[in-house]
Amino acid sequence: IAEVKGGEDQGLGRVGESLSIVGWVRTLRSQSSVTFIEINDGSCLSNLQCVLNSDVDGYDQVESGSILTGASISVQGTLVASQGTKQKVELKVEKIIVVGKCDSSYPIQKKRVSREFLRTKAHLRPRTNTFGAVARVRNALAYATHKFFQERGFIWVASPIITAADCEGAGEQFCVTTLIPSSHKTTDSSIDAIPKTKGGLIDWSQDFFGKPAFLTVSGQLNGETYATALSDVYTFGPTFRAENSNTSRHLAEFWMIEPELAFADLDDDMACATAYLQYVVKYVLDHCKEDMEFFDTWIEKGIIQRLSDVVEKDFLQLGYTDAIELLLKANRNFEFPVKWGLDLQSEHERYITEEAFGGRPVIIRDYPKEIKAFYMRENDDGKTVAAMDMLVPRIGELIGGSQREERIDVLEARLDELKLDKESYWWYLDLRRYGSVPHAGFGLGFERLVQFATGIDNIRDVIPFPRSPGSADF
Ligand code: 4AD
Ligand code: MG
Repeated sequence: IAEVKGGEDQGLGRVGESLSIVGWVRTLRSQSSVTFIEINDGSCLSNLQCVLNSDVDGYDQVESGSILTGASISVQGTLVASQGTKQKVELKVEKIIVVGKCDSSYPIQKKRVSREFLRTKAHLRPRTNTFGAVARVRNALAYATHKFFQERGFIWVASPIITAADCEGAGEQFCVTTLIPSSHKTTDSSIDAIPKTKGGLIDWSQDFFGKPAFLTVSGQLNGETYATALSDVYTFGPTFRAENSNTSRHLAEFWMIEPELAFADLDDDMACATAYLQYVVKYVLDHCKEDMEFFDTWIEKGIIQRLSDVVEKDFLQLGYTDAIELLLKANRNFEFPVKWGLDLQSEHERYITEEAFGGRPVIIRDYPKEIKAFYMRENDDGKTVAAMDMLVPRIGELIGGSQREERIDVLEARLDELKLDKESYWWYLDLRRYGSVPHAGFGLGFERLVQFATGIDNIRDVIPFPRSPGSADF
C-alpha cells in the first residue's frame, strides 16, 4: 500500500493499473449496493479503500458476514480515482478471498482504546495506527543510526550480552543462572557438588558454568577494546538494568547505541553526539512524513516544529557547576535537594532543558567524580571528570558519555579508591598498558530516542515487548 499511495501524487499516477493487495481489514461498511473495506498492510499508516459491488467474485463471503474487522484478505482489482475526499485513489475490486477469518471478540476495534489496555495486548497492538507508526519510526531511527556511523567510517562491534564486568559499577545487574535438566548425564566429577534441583532442573546456584556472570548493563568496556584497535567503532544492542524503578523512562531491558572514538576528547564526543542526534531526527522528518504528521495530530501537537528546531539550532553547553548555580537561582521548591556534589534528578534536568533554555537540548559537562563511573577521565581540578549528559525536553537524560581515563596510574588509583577489584579489570588495564590513546564515547538509550521522536510519553509503548518489573510474559 505504501508503494501505491506513498508517492507525491498519492497514487494518481497509477490509476488504471491492475493490482493484487493483501492485508488486514480495518473497517467494513455496506451501503445498499456497494461495500467499502479499508485494508491495511502495515507498510504505511494509510489504508487502501476497496470498493465492492455485488458482482465481485467471492462476494458471498461479504454477504455471509464472514469478513469482520481484523480478518486477513486478499483482493484483486483496478486502481481508480476516488470519488471520496479522504483519498485520491481506491481499488475497484474484482475478486476477494478471505485468508484468515476474525470474529467479533477481536479486541482491536475501530473505537479508541487506552495505551494501558493495549499493553495487555502486546501481541495485537502493532495492528493499531499508533503502534504501527511507532514501529516504522523506530525502524527508521535504527536504519539512520547505522547509516550515520557507517558513512563516517565507524565499525559496528557486537558486544556480549553475558559478561562478568559491571561497567557502571552500580550493581544493577541481573544474574545469570545455569539450569540443566537433572536427567542430563555428566561425566564431570564435580557434579556431586551441585545439589539443588528446581522443577526438574539442576540449579548451578546462580552462575555461568561455575563462575559468576551477569547480563550486560553496557557494551562500553568491550567497545573500548575495539576502539583501541580499529579507531572509531559503535555498538548497538540490548542492555539490561536490574533497577526496580517504575517510571516512564526506565526499562529493565533496553537497547543502547554506544560509539567509541579513538584519539578523541570530550569536545569531539559532544560534537559527535550532537551531529548524530541531528542526523537521525532529520532522517525521520524526511522519511516518515505520514507517521510524523500522525504524531503531530494525535500524540504531541507541534512535535514536527520541535524536532525541526533540534536539527537547525545549536545545542547549549553548560558546566555542571553552572547548572547547580542556575538551579539554586531558580527559586523553586524542587523535591530533591540541589547542592554541588549531588546528582541531578529528573525534575532538575527537565527544568534546565524545558524552562531555563526554552525546550532546547542542553549538554551538561564536568560532573563531580564522586557521582560518576570509575572509567571517566579526571579533570585537572582533581574534583571533576570529563563527563557529559545530553538532556532533552520531556525525557531528561537521553545520552550519557565521557572521555575515558587513558592514564594507567590514574585509573589504577581510582579503582583502588573505589575499592574495585583491580584483578578483574586486568584486560581493561592492558588497553592502557599497550598503546593507550585518549578516547571518548557515549551511550544513547534507543527507546528514549524513540520517545523523543514520536512524543509517546511512556517508554513501555516504544519497544515491542517491554520488560519492566512485572512484565515479561512473552
Ligand atoms: O548513562 P548511562 O548509564 O551510561 C552508560 O551506560 C555508559 N556506559 C555509556 C557510554 O559512555 N558508552 O546510560 C546511557 C543511556 C542513558 O543516557 C539513557 O538514555 C539510557 O542509556 N538508559 C536507559 N534507558 C532505558 N531504561 C533504563 N533503565 C536506562 N538506563 C539508562
Ligand atoms: Mg547516565
